[in-house]
Amino acid sequence: MFVVCLKFIFIPLMKKKKIVVFSGAGMSAESGIKTFRDTGGLWEEYKIEDVATFEAWIKNQPLVLDFYNQRRKQVMDAQPNEAHFLVAELQKHFDVQVITQNIDDLHERAGSKKVLHLHGEIMKCRSTAKQELIYELKHWEIKKGDVCEIGSQLRPHIVWFGEAVPEMDKATDLAEKADIFITIGTSLNVYPAANLINVIEGHIPKFLVDPGDFNLDYIKNLTIIKATAVEGMKVLSQKLNELI
Ligand code: APR
Repeated sequence: MFVVCLKFIFIPLMKKKKIVVFSGAGMSAESGIKTFRDTGGLWEEYKIEDVATFEAWIKNQPLVLDFYNQRRKQVMDAQPNEAHFLVAELQKHFDVQVITQNIDDLHERAGSKKVLHLHGEIMKCRSTAKQELIYELKHWEIKKGDVCEIGSQLRPHIVWFGEAVPEMDKATDLAEKADIFITIGTSLNVYPAANLINVIEGHIPKFLVDPGDFNLDYIKNLTIIKATAVEGMKVLSQKLNELI
């Protein structure tokens, strides 16, 4: 009787290990959303300085709006892929925090409960004049002349090149608390986000899932799974389940 009672008291108190998943464009590639720097990626088609800076916004609002309206339309038509679902499934046995550079909402739609967006969210817009005025978007298009409650043009809720990354401190704090750190589908080219992998202590197990080539020999305890997000997450989920 005593043993049974202890079991009921103890199990709910056992703390789940914390997994931090740091994702980039490759995470959503198998949902049909283009990455940026791969062959055929978005930055081959567009110049960053024409569409993804505040200067571009001042110079040519219709072009910037159109670029992000197309991105939004694509995200609304896309579905989470198996890798998004496998990340969400980890929540059964782990405390999972996703930190994503992606502006899509596919982690959320796959069921991930804790998602921090470092580079903004395509399904939101905000005031150009007052950045705290943020609104959800239910449709694909922001038009020239769509204004916020104080009359300022609405812009995509995106962190452009040259702008501060407001969630970076929070992301660093969360990453530092990881018991296991997983990077999926990012070229680790864009800072400060790419620095997250460097703040994790040496003894923490780290995994990187990506079909690309990386020279990360200086990072301790790193296992590279050279595969797409879906294939890599299948392998990794199995490895992690063995740790439970
Ligand atoms: N599965 C997993 N990874 C993939 C896949 C796939 N199917 N296909 C490509 N990749 C990998 C590539 O090998 C590369 O390492 O995804 C990565 C994509 O890199 P980038 O295009 O540079 O995307 P990301 O790292 O997310 O870019 C960071 O740059 O332009 C900005 O704001 C934008 O958030 C973005 C940031």
